[in-house]
Amino acid sequence: MSYLRQYLKFFLFAALPLVFSLSARATADDTKAFALAKQNACLGCHALDKKIVGPGLQSIAKKYANDPGATVFLKNKIIKGGSGSWGIVPMPANAKLSDADISLLVSWILRGAPSAN
Ligand code: HEC
Repeated sequence: MSYLRQYLKFFLFAALPLVFSLSARATADDTKAFALAKQNACLGCHALDKKIVGPGLQSIAKKYANDPGATVFLKNKIIKGGSGSWGIVPMPANAKLSDADISLLVSWILRGAPSAN
């Protein structure tokens, strides 16, 4: 059997299902994060692709793309609220969200807030 055929066989039976299962997992997280953002009024101030009261979520992803401290910084910021990163308008505190939910929201936002709906 040629290398090409062996490679194709590997791709079909091993790599392809892996790719599908990874993207399925991402989609489930995206759906949950989107629902959380809706339930907690984040989307009242943040659109995916433009500024409303707060910056667009895709702009946030771009701003922090190369910042290794972004996850910790943004989690704190969402909990405590505040201003200064984008202007003088402050974000209100979000004390009700669980740590797990905030982590899910931040990783979704940093991935560019892919919309699952
Ligand atoms: C009342 C409007 C409002 C709501 C509701 C709101 N935000 Fe914000 N958000 C803002 C504003 C205004 C800013 C810009 C703050 C700044 O300049 O530092 C912001 C900034 C952010 C940032 C970037 C922070 C930074 O320092 O760069 C993230 C991430 C964010 N919001 C996520 C969320 C999430 C998640 C929720 C829901 C739990 C939410 N926001 C709810 C108004 C809001």
